[in-house]
Amino acid sequence: MTQPSVLFVCLGNICRSPLAEAALRAEAVAAGIAITIDSAGIGGWHAGSPPDERAQAEALSNGIDIGGYRARQVSQDDFRRFERIFALDQQNLRDLGRIAPRRASAKVGLLMDIVPGREGTAVIDPYFGTQEDFAQTWEDVSLAAKQIVARLMR
Ligand code: 4NP
Repeated sequence: MTQPSVLFVCLGNICRSPLAEAALRAEAVAAGIAITIDSAGIGGWHAGSPPDERAQAEALSNGIDIGGYRARQVSQDDFRRFERIFALDQQNLRDLGRIAPRRASAKVGLLMDIVPGREGTAVIDPYFGTQEDFAQTWEDVSLAAKQIVARLMR
């Protein structure tokens, strides 16, 4: 059986999707399950860059160092390499639909659709916000990460 694999996609891969990656890595370790986890951006402007300082600070305040993460742009190959691709907001989801190759095996969906009561909502882009907005991002992606692990466990 192949290991479950999950890719998180936001716009820049420096704010929301690295936090989602970190949250799921932490939940997977806590649950003792192996998952292939990565994150990417719709755009490539930040490719090679570490996460936004505020995202790094938010992760650190939750005991996780994401300073070694590096941004990358999503690729067509990702649609074959990952079982699940989660878009952080609706625009990311539309953009993924535009990029997806015809032979895509990945199931692509909106991240918060898996959180009961939060279906159809976005993980709001904190890039032009404050540190508090990053705390909200962490809350959202942590809820989603717990759901992903719960689903994989049953
Ligand atoms: P992210 O946030 O999509 O959560 O990584 C953003 C990062 C960079 C930009 C926009 C959003 N940007 O316009 O450069």
